[in-house]
Order: sequence, then C-alpha cells, then structure tokens
Amino acid sequence: MITLKPNVMLHGADYNYEQWLEYPDVLDRDFELMKEAHCNAMSIGIFSWAMLEPAEGEYEFAWLDRLMDRLAENGIGAILATPSAAMPAWMAHKYPEIRLVRENGRQPHRMRQNFCPTSPLYREKVRQIDTILASRYAGHPALLLWHVSNEYGNNGCRCELCLAAFRKWLQARYGSLDALNEAWWTTFWSHRYTDWSQIEPVDPSMHGLMLDWKRFGSDQVLDFYLAEIKPLREFAPHIPVTTNFMQPDVGLDYWAFAPHVDVVAWDSYPRWHSESDESLVAMKTAFYHDLHRSYKQQPFILIESTPSATNWQGISRPKRPGMHQLSSLQAVAHGANGVGYFQWRQSRGGEEKFHGAVIGHAGDENTRTFREVAAVGELLAQLGPVAESVNHAEVAIIYDFQNEWALDLAQLPRSIEKNYQERCLTHYRPFWQRGITVDIINSTFADLLQYKLLIAPMLYMLLPGVAGRLEEFVRDGGTLVTTYLTGLVNESDLVFLGGSPGPLKELLGISVAETDVLYEHQQQSIQLTRQLFSFPKNDSAAGYRVTHYADLVRLQTAKALAVYKRDYYEGWPAVTVNQFGSGSAYYLAARYDEPFLADFYGELGKELGLEQTISNPLPKGVTAQKRVTDSEECIFLLNFEPLPQTVGLGDMLALDALSGEEISVEVVLAGYGIRILRWPR
Ligand code: GAL
Repeated sequence: MITLKPNVMLHGADYNYEQWLEYPDVLDRDFELMKEAHCNAMSIGIFSWAMLEPAEGEYEFAWLDRLMDRLAENGIGAILATPSAAMPAWMAHKYPEIRLVRENGRQPHRMRQNFCPTSPLYREKVRQIDTILASRYAGHPALLLWHVSNEYGNNGCRCELCLAAFRKWLQARYGSLDALNEAWWTTFWSHRYTDWSQIEPVDPSMHGLMLDWKRFGSDQVLDFYLAEIKPLREFAPHIPVTTNFMQPDVGLDYWAFAPHVDVVAWDSYPRWHSESDESLVAMKTAFYHDLHRSYKQQPFILIESTPSATNWQGISRPKRPGMHQLSSLQAVAHGANGVGYFQWRQSRGGEEKFHGAVIGHAGDENTRTFREVAAVGELLAQLGPVAESVNHAEVAIIYDFQNEWALDLAQLPRSIEKNYQERCLTHYRPFWQRGITVDIINSTFADLLQYKLLIAPMLYMLLPGVAGRLEEFVRDGGTLVTTYLTGLVNESDLVFLGGSPGPLKELLGISVAETDVLYEHQQQSIQLTRQLFSFPKNDSAAGYRVTHYADLVRLQTAKALAVYKRDYYEGWPAVTVNQFGSGSAYYLAARYDEPFLADFYGELGKELGLEQTISNPLPKGVTAQKRVTDSEECIFLLNFEPLPQTVGLGDMLALDALSGEEISVEVVLAGYGIRILRWPR
C-alpha cells in the first residue's frame, strides 16, 4: 500500500495560484488561511501551460518556483500537475493537427481536454514540458505526488492520425482481415472489408466495430498517459503518480488504467439534496468510492469534491450544514486517505467563477463553508492513523466497462432502460443498508477466491477466461449470483451459439428458452416454490414484482426456488440455484425490485455468515462502514437523514475514536451526523 505520508490524511484543494499573481495580498492571505483550514496538500499547476510556456520554447518558472517554496515553507505538500489537459492558444494555432477532430471537423481552440491523443507533435510538446517540470522539481521538498493531466476521457478524436492508429490497432488485434471480418460478422449488410483502409470508425450497425472503436479510444488515452509519465519516472522515480479519475462514464476502461497509477484519485460531485430520499445519493456515492478503492484494492484519494456547490449541475444546491463533514468522512469510511476540493479560491472570471470554493469572492474566512472545511481539516488531522487501515470485503459485485459498452450498443427486445450501472447499484444497496463492505471488481483479473459472495448483474458479454474463473470460484465453495441478460455474447459481441447463458450453462444448470419483456403497466410477479433460506414459503412471494425482463428458463441440473405467477409462462422458473462443486450458483431470471433483493440478500447474507459492521439493524438512511488494522476496527456511523437517529450497538463496547470515551448500548447520530468508533479486533 502506498502511504503518501505515514499516519496522515491529506486535506487540500486545487490551487490556481497563477490566476492571482497580480494580487500579492491575496496570495499571502491564501497561505494563512490554508493553515487555518489544516491543509497539507494542494494540487497546483493543472491548467498552467500558458503561464509556464508563454511562447514556444520560452519558459517562465519563477512563479512556480516561488509557489513550490512557499508550500514547502508552510509544510504543505505539492500535488504537482502536468499541464497537458489544456494547451496554450499559441500552440493550438500554430499546430492545428494537435486539436481534436469531431464529426463536424477539427475543433477550434476552446474549452480544455481538446487535444488529439495520437498526435506525435502534441505528445512531443507534452514530453518537453513534463521533462522540464520533472527535472526541475524532482528534488523539491514540497513535491509529494504527480497529478498527471486532468480528467482524461475518451473524446473519440476522428482525425486521420487516429484513424490510421485505429487500423494499426486492429491489425495487431486480429492479424488478418479475414479474422476481423469473422469477429465483426461483416457479411451482415454486406460490410465485408477487403482493405484495412475501408474501415471507418463510427457505424452503429456494426457492434463489433463500435466496441473496438471504444476499446481503441480507451487504449489510446492510456498510451498517452504512459507517454506522459515516462519523464516523471525517469527524473523523479521516488515520487508516486496519479491522475484524477471520474465517475465511470467517460469512455475509459479504468480496469486497464488503474494498474498504471501508484495511487487512485478521483473527483466526486454527487447531487446532494436533489432527491427526497438522500440515501439514494449517498448509496450511489458509496458505490463509486468502493469502486475507486477496488481498482487497486488500496486506499484512494478523493482529490476533488466541492466544499459547497458546483455550478454546472443545472441545479447546484449547496451542501446543507453538516453535509460537508458527512460526505468527506463518507469517502474516508470507504477507503479514502485524503479529501480535496475544487477549488481553493473562486476564480474571478471564466466558466467556473461561481463554482463553490473554500474561499469565495468575499475573500475571507467568515463563511459557513470555510468553517466547515476547517472543521473537516481538523478532524482529518486527528484521524491520521486511520490512513494505515484498509477495508475488507467478503462480497464483490462485478462491474465491467467493456460489458457496459457492449450492453449499451445491444439492440435487445427491451433496449430502453437496460441500466447496467443502475442495476449494479440496486444489487449493492441491500449491503450498504446493512453496513456490509462490498468491493466492486472486474471479471477478468480480480482475485475472486477471496470472496464468499460474488454478484454479476447482467454480465451480457463474457470476456475470454471469465466463465472458467466463475466456475473455479463456485467449485471452490463460493456463492455466485447472476441475472437475466447474462452470457449472451463473446468479446467480439458475437452471440454464443446454443443460446444463453452460453459457457455458463453448466455452472448455472439452466438454459434460457425465451425472454419476455414488459411495458411499465404490465404485471408479473413470482411465487416461492421451496424454502429459500428462511423466506416463508408462500406469503412473502406475493409482493415480489417483476419488471422489464423475464427469462423463461429450462432447468438442467438447477432447482427452481421461485416461479412466475401469471401469463403463458406461469409456473416457469424465475429464481434458480445450482450446486456446482462445493458452491452454489443462482440465476435471477427476471428484474426484481428492491424488496426482493433486500430479502434475498438479507437471507443469503445470514446463510453465508457475512460480517456486518454493526450486528443490529441500522435505521433507514444510516450506514456503518469500517476500516481495519491487525489490532483494531475503526467504525464509521454515517447518518444521511436530516433528523437524528439512534444506532443500537448490541453487546459492542467501543471507544469514541476522537474523545476516547467508552460507548455502549446505543449511539445517537445528529441529522447528517457522524460518529467514529474504535473497537479491538
Ligand atoms: C472537475 C475538473 C475541475 C473543475 C471541476 C468543477 O471535473 O477536474 O477542473 O472543472 O470539475 O466541478
């Protein structure tokens, strides 16, 4: 595990020092206020290229030298960015080939992340500036971490350079046009290619092509990143490297990316207070934190969040009192070793001038936001030792980007509301509500054998080797839960002949005969046919509703646990289980709403003896998460309801992690309140 500073939680913000060079008083005040806010790591230089290289080959580092020195003087670490996310205007105009090309042509110089990731010229310009930064600051005492570029995403550049690189990528993947024609099933609509040059990227009718275009785009950005970090590794091999990831809908396969960063960092901007039920937003945010922890199975950094509100969400509601502490500690509870903000000081101009900041335009600390940020800073300072602990999960949910891309493309009997990500969240929710730790993992290389329960919602595309990995997991005693829309296609999006669930048939002991899909007003439900754990046999089944999808399943070796209640498939299996080796493999043949999943996972959790952070049931909107060391558990109780709530502790006798006071019986959490407990292992 990388601990950037042992026993230290990072606290800081994106600091756009270069915007304020003409305001020395502002800069002086910044450092005083950073101390008051307990900041110990600031992200700098993210969009500074035009200030570092105002004209080609002419560099100005004096301001950055001064900034680095001031950070060091104040005991603050520098998370120093490479500036590639925003090219200077002179460069964009002198070298048009570095600018992104979209369907409507080459883009003018505007916005940011506006570069072609293939352009050798842009890569060379980036190499030059990164090399100077790395060689100049490698030995600087402030330098803590490299912040490579900013929020890479797959922008789908369609310039000639990218098209040529795509064709080369395809040649490497397939070796021959015959193999490509076979993999993409190009005889369909007479798409057979007879020359590589005929391949144009965007054609929604060719799913194999579209999937490879997405894969290529993701690989190309990763390749760009790998080129960026070369000089950093060469001149500053002792300094770890990160880049800020985002919520997973930016066209990157972060599973492929994560092995190449030393520490995962991500930018989280939940829409707090947007729903009547705050726990929906909380649960979704928790899922993303768990995903980011799981990328490397290590603590991560919440490198950007807003200290109050964003200004780009249409309705950007400021965090209500208490929410800033709660959302920051939520990240820590799920494995963050640091909390950062966008932005330290509100800029005077540009698109983000009304975005929340630690210091607003009024310029002083007499604000609720500043006080709440400072309080979080103080709290994190006290929680330093928590940085040495980890989250440990017995449950994992498979969430694969390539599966999501393939599913998005697929034209199925019900193409609207496939909602892969949302369904992963629906399966996650019952665990969050019970305070059971969950890892979010990939199907291809995660170590499955460490889990008791593995959930693979809608694993439509099975990548090579995955069926065997799932079999091994169950044979070894694991419990697997799969659903409708599983095992339909291979890695090229070619359908498995013989029907679904393709190579998982033996493991699941079923085959899918037909699939019904439902409009919103249409009704279907299921009835339990056997004792499913301690579910009452008939009664509770009355309420379990089916929506959207319903597979009609034939049993091979599996047993039906529930059947459909109506229509022409009344009596057909709706939930099945197959014993395979020493484990069990479930198939949820239809989309069930939350009551079923809550009961199902509740009972399965008991059966498997899954560890709950707190053994008592938690009130609605409260979760309990824990981080552990060899000797101790650190338990975070988080209340996402605006009203106070009481958590029963059973026979647990814990210590308040901050005051050391002994706590037993119950804990009362304020509205949006937190409590952190210690408990020996
Ligand atoms: C992030 C970005 C920051 C800033 C922020 C505003 O996505 O990295 O530079 O734009 O959003 O919320």
